[in-house]
Amino acid sequence: MKFFVDTADVDAIRELHALGMVDGVTTNPSLILKSGRDILEVTREICSFVEGPVSAEVVALTADEMIAEGRKLAEIAPNIAVKVPLTWDGLKTCKVLSDEGKMVNVTLCFSANQALIAAKAGATFISPFIGRLDDINLDGLELISDIRQVYDNYGFDTQILAASIRTANHVTQCALIGADVMTAPPAVIKGLANHVLTDKGLEQFMKDWAKTGQKII
Ligand code: G3P
Repeated sequence: MKFFVDTADVDAIRELHALGMVDGVTTNPSLILKSGRDILEVTREICSFVEGPVSAEVVALTADEMIAEGRKLAEIAPNIAVKVPLTWDGLKTCKVLSDEGKMVNVTLCFSANQALIAAKAGATFISPFIGRLDDINLDGLELISDIRQVYDNYGFDTQILAASIRTANHVTQCALIGADVMTAPPAVIKGLANHVLTDKGLEQFMKDWAKTGQKII
């Protein structure tokens, strides 16, 4: 499973990139707001060191305007994936831009049917939002599983990009289900290293090592 980082915080991306953990980046208008930076400038900086797909989202609501915004965003770098919302106009945009050879990430997906029509419109990535379904007492992981089955049934090559990932368990389950990609905030990715038994075991090793009175260096 590929790891994308869901942030426009360049320092956080650089830290994970240095560990080989960044197969791509996803941003959205809320994350651009959080970064406090200009969308074109920050996206350009991210693309200067991230080799994989970097999603940059359009903000217009009509297809014509979305297509224009998407073309402008795609000019930033060859690895831009234009992110469009899962609306009818977003799907029109997806078809036009994907026919032009651009990567398109269709976002705000909350049903298997939405994922199906996004694939038919030529989406490179479909972004189902797990956490936001869980927030309203639905099962976000079940959606990932359903989309996996639908895409496998018909051989769609649209990649399932599991988004709105909030917990380590979301990551585990997405990997077990077979999501192609998961995108998570840096804190969730860093948290994957944590285990209570690792902490406990390390504490014991440190105590015992101190008793040996030895040094390695
Ligand atoms: O990738 C989508 C993500 O940014 C949404 O996450 O936690 O705001 O639902 P969240």
